[in-house]
Formats: sequence, C-alpha cells, structure tokens
Amino acid sequence: MAATLDRLRKECQDFFRKIYVGEDRVLVFGEGAPSAQWMLIGEAPGEQEALQGRPFVGKAGKQLDAFLDALKLDRGALYITNAVKFRPTRISAAGRTVNRAPTQEEIGLWQPWLRREIDAVKPRLIVTLGNTALRAATGDALLIGDAHGRIIEDHDPPVFALYHPAAVIYRRALQDTYQQDLATLRDVMGEMIR
Ligand code: URA
Repeated sequence: MAATLDRLRKECQDFFRKIYVGEDRVLVFGEGAPSAQWMLIGEAPGEQEALQGRPFVGKAGKQLDAFLDALKLDRGALYITNAVKFRPTRISAAGRTVNRAPTQEEIGLWQPWLRREIDAVKPRLIVTLGNTALRAATGDALLIGDAHGRIIEDHDPPVFALYHPAAVIYRRALQDTYQQDLATLRDVMGEMIR
C-alpha cells in the first residue's frame, strides 16, 4: 500500500507540474498509516503546511490534534489528506500572500486523485472536515451545517461529516456541537471495530 501511495504521489506531482508550468508549488500529499482504518480529509494546505510539506501542521492542525486526543486517536493510526493538495493563495490588499478557498475548478481537478488515494488506503471510514472535503469525497452538493455529525448514506467507504477544525477556532459557538459530533464519531468507530 505504501508503494501504491508513493507511486500515486509521483504521478500526481508529474500531472500537476504539466498544468502549473513554471510555478513553484509545493505538493502537500496525504500522510499516515498507508492502510489506516480511518481517513481524514481536509480542504487544502495553508502556509505552514506548504512550508513543511505536511497536512494539518499549522493552527488548524493544533485544533485537530486536540480533537484527536478527545477521540484517543493517534495521528500515526490515521491517514490524513486534503481535497486540494496545493496551497491556494491570493495577494491581499496589503500585498501579502494569504490563503483563499479552493475554486470549483481546483477541487474538480483534484477529485480523481483523491478517489485514487481513497482506493489505495481502503479505509473503513472517511471523516471529512468541512464543506470542501465533504463535497469532494461524496460528490454530493451537501452543506456541512446539515450533514455534520452523521454518516452520509450510500457511500463506500462510508463518510462521516465533521466541521472543519478551523471553523471551531473562528466560531466558538460551534464548540458544543463539535464535542457532540466527536462523541457520535467515537461511537460510530467503536461499532465498526466491534
Ligand atoms: N486546513 C486544511 O484543510 N488542511 C490543512 O492541511 C491545513 C489546514
């Protein structure tokens, strides 16, 4: 499985190098246990992730780690990736390079690669973090506000939707909802390995 993921990463790099000719983009590929039971999918890398070449190592990653602690899950037991694997950026009014949300085109370009990554890892359960990951993993036009905290029907592997950890940083009111969703997720995972 590790060899399949290594090959996939290389193919993916070559494919996007031809699309973004001459651009110095850092590919932030998924990482973790190559045959993990649980696969987490985020939106896209931010600044820290692009600097370190690893998913969820910045501010949202710290928040994610706190949630994983609550689930008593070790990062090493998971596979963590993003729907879009390059950092989407724009230039702010102050002239700084800042994050932006990925476009539909970017998400669509990445979707077949995400599917191949899922097929290589073959997780028992996919946990999506936020709207972009939810839509990229299911192909459904869902809203996280409606879909969070439950398994989305008719997907193989099954998909459990969580808010993006960064949403909890910016919307403190989501704290309780997130804790409830994590408790449901813990039960769902427990049922799956019983
Ligand atoms: N947000 C994401 O969705 N993914 C990362 O890797 C970091 C922040």
